Amino acid sequence: MGGVTEQVSGRAGLDKRPDEIAAMFDGVAAAYDRTNTVLSFGRDRAWRRATRAALHPRPGERVLDVGAGTGVSTDELARSGAYAVGTDISLGMLAAGRRTRPAVRLLAGDALALPFPDATFDAVTISFALRNVADPGKALAELRRVTRPGGRLVVCEFSHPTNHLLRTAHLSYVMRSLPAVARRVASNPEAYVYLAESIRAWPDQAGLAARLAGAGWTGVGWRNLSGGIVALHRGVRPT
Ligand SMILES: C[S@@+](CC[C@H](N)C(=O)[O-])C[C@H]1O[C@@H](n2cnc3c(N)ncnc32)[C@H](O)[C@@H]1O
Repeated sequence: MGGVTEQVSGRAGLDKRPDEIAAMFDGVAAAYDRTNTVLSFGRDRAWRRATRAALHPRPGERVLDVGAGTGVSTDELARSGAYAVGTDISLGMLAAGRRTRPAVRLLAGDALALPFPDATFDAVTISFALRNVADPGKALAELRRVTRPGGRLVVCEFSHPTNHLLRTAHLSYVMRSLPAVARRVASNPEAYVYLAESIRAWPDQAGLAARLAGAGWTGVGWRNLSGGIVALHRGVRPT
């Protein structure tokens, strides 16, 4: 669920150049799944199940998972019986996914220029990836383009805990403990310094909802998971 390294583009790499982001994820690919589970105390599995439930893919529907990485999020969607496809710009993440999840359909594809015609999918989703995209508004519009009228979007992303005490504890964990733990388990621990910075810099629940609406999604709302550490935002493509 991490991001780019400090060294790639200045302070914490928040410039998010696509080539640098892809290279950074190539570097974390080998230990990506394990690192997530350790850093989230296993909560990542519940967050993925909740994402699938919110998107509610039905058997036979076409579902796109953008920023799919190793396909861990795509695999969860495929459990519904829908035809699930994942895309990512990191060839290293895709290669790791093809090794560990050969049954999952994974393609190279940029969130800012998706390799699909208009209105291809019944439902689209992006998990822990919108924060890493150089232009999130453009990605949300591109997701809308490939969704059929009446189709659904769910964004699963780190957010801002609503309770003051949890917010303080979470910020301390993210900024101090998380990089230290990553040093022990991640294949590229520097990337997790960016993870911390990018979570702090990301808009809160209402701010992200406004971005969805600004990109042309209707019926926008959200649901907090784990007290708002993660939020699921939803929208519908207007008919
Ligand atoms: C933190 S991982 C999330 C992977 C997976 N969805 C999950 O839930 O664990 C973020 C992914 O977003 C990808 N990514 C970043 N920018 C992208 C872009 N413009 N287009 C497609 N994928 C992108 C990265 O390569 C990385 O694999």
